[in-house]
Amino acid sequence: MGGQRPFRGPVRGAPSPTFPSVTSTPSSSSPSPSSGSPTAPSDDPLRRFRLDGRVAIVTGASSGLGRRFARVLHGVGASVVVTARRADRLDELVATLPGAVAVAGDITVEDDRQRLIDRALALTGHLDVLVNNAGMSNPVAAEDELVDQFRRVVEVNLTAVFGLSQLAGRQMLEQGHGSIVNIASILGMVAAAPIKEASYTASKGAVINLTRQLGAEWGRRGVRVNAIAPGWFETEMTAEMWGDESSMAYIRRNTPLGRPGLLDELDGALLYLAGDASSYVTGQVLAVDGGWTAR
Ligand SMILES: NC(=O)c1ccc[n+]([C@@H]2O[C@H](COP(=O)([O-])OP(=O)(O)OC[C@H]3O[C@@H](n4cnc5c(N)ncnc54)[C@H](OP(=O)(O)O)[C@@H]3O)[C@@H](O)[C@H]2O)c1
Repeated sequence: MGGQRPFRGPVRGAPSPTFPSVTSTPSSSSPSPSSGSPTAPSDDPLRRFRLDGRVAIVTGASSGLGRRFARVLHGVGASVVVTARRADRLDELVATLPGAVAVAGDITVEDDRQRLIDRALALTGHLDVLVNNAGMSNPVAAEDELVDQFRRVVEVNLTAVFGLSQLAGRQMLEQGHGSIVNIASILGMVAAAPIKEASYTASKGAVINLTRQLGAEWGRRGVRVNAIAPGWFETEMTAEMWGDESSMAYIRRNTPLGRPGLLDELDGALLYLAGDASSYVTGQVLAVDGGWTAR
């Protein structure tokens, strides 16, 4: 921070945010920008949840939440670009989503991140939504977790999120609009203990504050950054818990709604944060957790 001037006022003469032309919309008028200048209120509030003509990247789309997110964004009209390491899984997914593009790669590899952005830009020349969903966990006791294991979790869950957000952010800043949605976790808001997840909780907590920082840093230039903090959902990551009755009882006992979440119960939060419905929201974390963090 030393020597930096923290406050920079509006830049005189800076171009006002613009939104690329939209070719197909559900109504006669184009969607408003996902950030930037406010637009006149629409008489169709649901229009603000549509993503027609927009390009959205979803990471970690080969399974679990990411696969669902890709389907949901595609379902409201976005051109979806999906990534993960398992190419066969991505190919299966895009075969069911007309127009979707698969870019297999490892998000911790800089060249793979750049390739992903380049492929998304090749579609229409703009990038409107980035969903940073890929992640991993390493459930071992803190006293036993190797520093290299800790470092790997941070690399996937945090450093790669920053790296991809930076590449996407540069493009979105140039466009003057864009929406980044980070998939954090309730375990970035509260401790996981008695579950043993030191590296996971640390990385997700950092993603939440990175969300606040990027949201605040880029807000005046039209780029919004928000996070979803899911509670417990059945995926490959949580498969062991789903196979263990005492874990399930633990989830039911500690969740005010008395059960884990269903995959489609994240759809609303995703659509809200990805599109114009949240045009006055940035730097925020939306917990979708059956009340876990309300206790
Ligand atoms: N399930 C839950 O209850 C829950 C709760 C809170 C938060 N979350 C978060 O939700 C996100 C999705 O998790 P999930 O539950 O859906 O788990 P999942 O089924 O294990 O999915 C994880 C995804 O991340 C991808 N991935 C992991 N490392 C990668 C890498 N280095 N490069 C590229 N892709 C990578 C995986 O694809 P490949 O293996 O094919 O690369 C996979 O598609 C994660 O960020 C997780 O922390 C989940």
